[in-house]
Amino acid sequence: MAGPRTSIHGEWSSKLAFVLAATGSAVGLGNIWKFPYVTGQNGGGAFVLIYVACVLIIGVPTMMAEVMLGRRGRQSPINTMRTLAAEEGRSPRWGWLGWMGVVAGFLILSFYSVIAGWALAYVFRTAAGLFDGATAEFTEQVFSNLITDPEKLIAWHTIFLIMTMIVVARGVAAGLETAVRFLMPGLFVLLLLLVGYAMAEGEFLQGVRFLFEPDFSKVTPQVILMAMGQAFFSLSLGMGAIMIYGSYLPHDASIARTSFAVAGSDTLVALIAGLAIFPIVFEFGLEPNAGPGLIFQTLPIAFGQMPGGAFFGTLFFVLLVFAAWTSAISLAEPAVAWLVENRGHTRVYAAVVCGSVTWLLGLGTVFSFNIWSDYRLFGKTFFDLLDYLTSNIMLPVGGFLIAIFAGWVMRERSVKEELQMDDSLGYRLWRFLVRYITPVGVALVFLNVIEVI
Ligand code: PHE
Repeated sequence: MAGPRTSIHGEWSSKLAFVLAATGSAVGLGNIWKFPYVTGQNGGGAFVLIYVACVLIIGVPTMMAEVMLGRRGRQSPINTMRTLAAEEGRSPRWGWLGWMGVVAGFLILSFYSVIAGWALAYVFRTAAGLFDGATAEFTEQVFSNLITDPEKLIAWHTIFLIMTMIVVARGVAAGLETAVRFLMPGLFVLLLLLVGYAMAEGEFLQGVRFLFEPDFSKVTPQVILMAMGQAFFSLSLGMGAIMIYGSYLPHDASIARTSFAVAGSDTLVALIAGLAIFPIVFEFGLEPNAGPGLIFQTLPIAFGQMPGGAFFGTLFFVLLVFAAWTSAISLAEPAVAWLVENRGHTRVYAAVVCGSVTWLLGLGTVFSFNIWSDYRLFGKTFFDLLDYLTSNIMLPVGGFLIAIFAGWVMRERSVKEELQMDDSLGYRLWRFLVRYITPVGVALVFLNVIEVI
């Protein structure tokens, strides 16, 4: 290679900017909306334990691999994979890995935007004081009024998608960097405040026990698959979002350290969200397995009862919207970057194209909660199916192939050069995990689930 490449799309201004942007991508609805409800549906403690294990032994190594590939290729994931494969004397068909990521990105963004739309809607409902003194029945009613009305859902979905595409169109570095710098710490502080409330007013111990006391009788192959899928989803792995962010990473930044920082904050935010939510769930006799509506039905009760609740509640949903926003941007970025590189489109045009496709796909999710709610395929609604297909299948398959590429296909010399790691213990551990544990782990989970089906 003739010296390090540079990206035509620009570069983060510093290592910290990358960490913030990648954390912005990782921390989103997956942590605050999805993690609590899938934990609730999968029995609590044992699921959490398996989830954390997946983050450590599959997530972190895969993240390092993705960042490494991105920084070496310096292009959209499709072109990065193609270029690197050629450089290593391998088939250009590795570019298909990038394509699968682009498709996964569209599918995820299509439902992500609808759910982020709920959060947007809740900003206004909370700000208007709707939840003052609210009971569990009332918050359930408010939630059901929202999701059974396709018109409202489409309106919020549209607004959120436009917000996302505006930032994407302007380029990631400028807008995003400044935004995440303030928003991520803000979200963190607010979550801690909510934990404080849950501690004082909720069934805190019951919540802690639910989250951290594993009951292994609840573990099935499905539960393990869900935990692994959640790890990929929450860390934004397996579809190229982290790869493209890595392609904007300055050359001197340590990939290992930045990956740990991102994975660590992501996991912390998910656990804190769980600690804020479950005590309230138990205090008000709600069901932990209420599904996607869980946080929208529980947190407003807390906001309705606490002093200054309308204010903190509004702030919370605003920050949730921001967290979702910074993730949504990263879901669209691989496709947009590819359109710019290969089709010569401007970012604005590329964003409009991607936004339109996503908007249309999103209607499927909108209707899953109302006019299509009775239609089932494999026992799932359109939304459930999309969510299952992307998190539990496409992302792990993507992660599997990324690990194979980084661990087996690339020459070790290239890998070491890009990671800038010598033969340290850390490097050897990473190499072992990425060559054996990640691929074998993902494969085993798949095989077990297939057997059960
Ligand atoms: N990690 C994001 C979240 O937890 C979702 C996401 C998945 C973003 C895949 C990008 C890629 O909300």
